[in-house]
Formats: sequence, structure tokens, C-alpha cells
Amino acid sequence: MGFLFLDMKKTCPIGVFDSGYGGLTVLKEIVAKLPHYDYIYMGDNARAPYGPRSFDTVYQYTLECVEWFFAQGCELVILACNTASAKALRNIQQKDLPLIDPDKRVLGVIRPTTEIIGRFSKSGEIGILGTTGTVQSMSYPIEIAKFFPECKVYQESCPMWVPLVENNEYQKPGADYFIQENIAHIMQASENIDTLLLACTHYPLLLAKIKQFLPAGVTVVSQGEIVANSLVEYLRKHAELAEKISQNGQISFYTTDAVTDFDNHAGIFFGKAIASLHLDLQAK
Ligand code: DGL
Repeated sequence: MGFLFLDMKKTCPIGVFDSGYGGLTVLKEIVAKLPHYDYIYMGDNARAPYGPRSFDTVYQYTLECVEWFFAQGCELVILACNTASAKALRNIQQKDLPLIDPDKRVLGVIRPTTEIIGRFSKSGEIGILGTTGTVQSMSYPIEIAKFFPECKVYQESCPMWVPLVENNEYQKPGADYFIQENIAHIMQASENIDTLLLACTHYPLLLAKIKQFLPAGVTVVSQGEIVANSLVEYLRKHAELAEKISQNGQISFYTTDAVTDFDNHAGIFFGKAIASLHLDLQAK
């Protein structure tokens, strides 16, 4: 695919991808820990949500976006999206990267989270809240079993939560109905669940409402800081990759949908005002 090179062509930013706004909750934490690097964020808002889409569609969309990041000069791309990490990452790492460029890296958010999630729980019973795609992929139960085989994992898909966030409805009373329903359902699975993982990068925006419907003593874990800490460690261990990343402290934002909508909402996720550029993935 012959993407146009954009304004960051001479730099080597870290690419951060999400289907929409959610990855900004991860980027915010990464930038807090690694402010000196350049970053390029892209939200595929025009095609969000990815959660209900098929394996093949999520893979195809994600690969297309990863190729765009590579065309911008990125050597490292973070899929700051659980759905893309669950449905596309393995194929991209094993099938596509060896053909595109074996030195480039694409990392997801599931592995760094599952490596440590067991440490948050005393009872060993963990609830996973995610999109339908993430839950159906079984990525979390499978990966957690590798690191914490003694843990019991319960999953709940929350198909309305991403649309509530993407459509800026998440603070309104209508959101309460869906949040309460999903929380009640997962907590009915076992009274011993003491840790709930927000396994979707959009969900931290719903944190206040989630806590409102939770019994006392349940810890809610967001991924942003976990992923950021893991990236710090990854770059420490992979100095040859870290050295390639440009260090001007610049961040560019792209959305495949309207920039005004993106700019109006994205600041809430990122914690600062954002001025984005429009990206037309079809442009050759
Ligand atoms: N932020 C994405 C995730 O972490 C949302 C997926 C979607 O677009 O449904 O799964």
C-alpha cells in the first residue's frame, strides 16, 4: 500500500494505535514515563468500535494501520487496544513482520497486563471486563493461566461501553444502566472476585461509574500505567531499538474520522488539549 509520508517522515516516533480514543489513556501514561521520545497516535475512529467485528476484519484493519505507522518511519508500534491485541497481534508478529521488516516491532497490551495482574489479587479470583472480541478470543484466561496458574478468571463482555465512550454518553445517566448490569453480572459469577481488570483502553473513562456499582474491597485495575512500565523495561532491554527512536518530545495525533470531533473528545482521555490531523487510509 503506497501511503503518503506525512510530516514526521524524518523522525522515528513510537506509534500508538487504537480503534478510537481509548489508546490515549495508555499514551498519556507512556508519555509521563518517557517524555523525551517522539510519538504518533492514530485512532481509527471512522471504523470504531472494533469489539463486535470479526477476527478477519480486526486483523485486516489493524494491519492496514500498522503499515501506515511504518510508512511514517515508526520502528515500534504499540497496539494500545485490547481487541486488536487479541485478534491481530499474533498474526502480525508471526506472519506479516517477517515479510515487511523483521527488525520492526509491534507490541500489544495483553501480555504486559497478564504478567502482573495476579499480584493485585489476594483471593486469586479475577474478573476481566472487555469487548466482545477480547472476551471471545479467550486471550486473558489463556495468558493469565501461564503466569498465575492458580488464579480463577471470570470474563464479562460489555458491548455497550465503548459506544458510550466514543459517543460521549459515558457521563450521562443512561450509561448507568449498562454499567450496573455488567458489573452485577460479573460479580454474581463469584463472591470471591477481589480484582477487576479494565481490559479495554476505553474503560478508564468509566471508572467513577464502575466504582459506584462495586462492592467495597474490589480493586479496579487500569492498564495504562502497567503498559507504560512494561515499555520502559522493554526499551531498557532492547537498546538497539531504543536508540533508533527519535527524541524531540513531539507528539502527533491522527484520526480517520473528523478532526473536530476527535479534538473535542480526545483531550478528556489524554488530559490535555489535542490538535489532530485527518488521515484518509484510502489515499494512495
Ligand atoms: N480500546 C479498545 C480496546 O482496548 C476498544 C475496542 C473497540 O473499538 O471496540 O479493546
